[in-house]
Amino acid sequence: MSVEKRTKSIDLSHHLSELSKARTTSPLKGLQKYFSQPGILSLAGGLPSPAYFPISDVSANVLIPDSFALVPTESSTSFSWLWKLFGSHTSTSEKTQGVTIPKYSANDGDINLAHSLQYGPSVAQQQLQVFLREFTSEVYRPAFEDWSVLIDTGNTDGWSRAVTTLCNPGEGVLCEEWTYPSALASILPLNIQPVPVPMDGVGMKSDALENLLSQWDPVSRQMPRPHVMYIVPVGQNPSGSTMSITRKKQIYDVCVKYDVIIVEDDPYYFLQLGTYIFKEDRSSGATPSGRPSPKESKRFVSTLTPSFLNFDYQGRVIRLDTFSKTIAPGSRLGWFTCNPLFAERLERQGETTTQAPCGFGQSIITKILTHWSYDGYIRWLRGIRTEYQQRRNFFVDCLAEEFHLQPMPADTVADIWQGCIVYQASSKVKTIAEKHATQNLTMLSFVPPVAGMFVWMKLHLDQHPSFSPGDENALEMKLWTKLAENGVLFAPGWMFSAKELTGDTDHADSGHFRVSFSNVEFPDLKKAVTIFGRVIREFFEEDL
Ligand SMILES: Cc1ncc(COP(=O)(O)O)c(C=O)c1O
Repeated sequence: MSVEKRTKSIDLSHHLSELSKARTTSPLKGLQKYFSQPGILSLAGGLPSPAYFPISDVSANVLIPDSFALVPTESSTSFSWLWKLFGSHTSTSEKTQGVTIPKYSANDGDINLAHSLQYGPSVAQQQLQVFLREFTSEVYRPAFEDWSVLIDTGNTDGWSRAVTTLCNPGEGVLCEEWTYPSALASILPLNIQPVPVPMDGVGMKSDALENLLSQWDPVSRQMPRPHVMYIVPVGQNPSGSTMSITRKKQIYDVCVKYDVIIVEDDPYYFLQLGTYIFKEDRSSGATPSGRPSPKESKRFVSTLTPSFLNFDYQGRVIRLDTFSKTIAPGSRLGWFTCNPLFAERLERQGETTTQAPCGFGQSIITKILTHWSYDGYIRWLRGIRTEYQQRRNFFVDCLAEEFHLQPMPADTVADIWQGCIVYQASSKVKTIAEKHATQNLTMLSFVPPVAGMFVWMKLHLDQHPSFSPGDENALEMKLWTKLAENGVLFAPGWMFSAKELTGDTDHADSGHFRVSFSNVEFPDLKKAVTIFGRVIREFFEEDL
């Protein structure tokens, strides 16, 4: 086995914002290292006595790591969702194991509430810190030596802290042209503007990034060349695209050339679902049994597309991880992986804001992770990946049942889907439209996502009988409202447009829905697609 030679991160201190540079250690937190010294008689802090914490222990029944099968178990009939409804999803079939976190632990180093619920340092509780280091090292394998992990309350918090640590008001942040709206909502009030970069089927385009940065004119742009990038590389929200290794390396190299810090917001990393295969071509298999093993964990990790950290020989990536999509969003727990300088500044910020993520959440998640162990958690991740894969498959199967799906000729696929197999959906139902010879009219197109929770639909609004250019947003909302009135909510596409916010709107590019297949149960997914089919047909037949 070859031993990778890694070097320390380079000095990137010139990226720190004025606000971040001005932060000092919180006076009390600065004394924290003494508080935890064995034998110290601390009368310094305003610490409540744990004797008065009104909880003597917290117990939880935790699902076993192999609760979910590794290969789809449904039969391939069109009513497989009935199996889902009455089958293994009922709570009575859940296998759990009990764990307890006592207020006081008998053994040093065990998680206990007296410690977890007390004021503490802004870094993770020790057991969690150890777990996250092992996990990050095994799964992401950062290419630089001196990386640190630091907990936060999830990626929303992570991004908001990262951007204020790096950007001053009046600056811009590079982002995908379609992106996660909350990320933009957190920067706009700070007078930090999104700088959208065109995308194709694997996400942000490296040549477009290079062009943008090489031709940057601070005068006409009224801002300095951006030095921070916000990017969602896997199961991108909203487009569902996943960045290839080659593209990641190209983006990284452009960022080195133009000295850009990459903030990698990657909540869907473990939902790498693979290519969608039509139902009739799928075979179901049996889940291999046996305890989670290091060999299996290694094999699984090797199938995942690498993080930007894996190419980051300079320490210019701040990776954001969250337990929101793999354990529960309400845990409000996640972590940064980054160079020690950025970690230290982010920690200073945490000290005076949240202080630390909630002690209940930290201790319960830590207990689950240490109870499962690293291999158990990997087994859990593999199981939920299969679950979301089945949901993705089921949702696209429903679309295939509702619409006539036709692959778009590869040479006509452009822009955001370039390089992907795009399906054009037309009506299967013989309707009034047929009389008008419009039965084959494409109403929408989409790419079955290879990761994440979303299908991004392009609405072919130019096919609407009353369409004239510039109407896209109004028609998108008209259809959206009709759907809502019929009891189905999709996310309207305009919300995700970074260009919309910069005033650089290309109307021909508008007209999308983001549809999430992650939460609604199978019968309701089916029902929603049936309603959608009817409503969109009626919509395209209006005024005929
Ligand atoms: C791209 C992206 N980032 C961040 C989040 C929120 O993550 P968290 O719950 O960790 O704050 C989401 C959730 O939908 C998301 O899609």
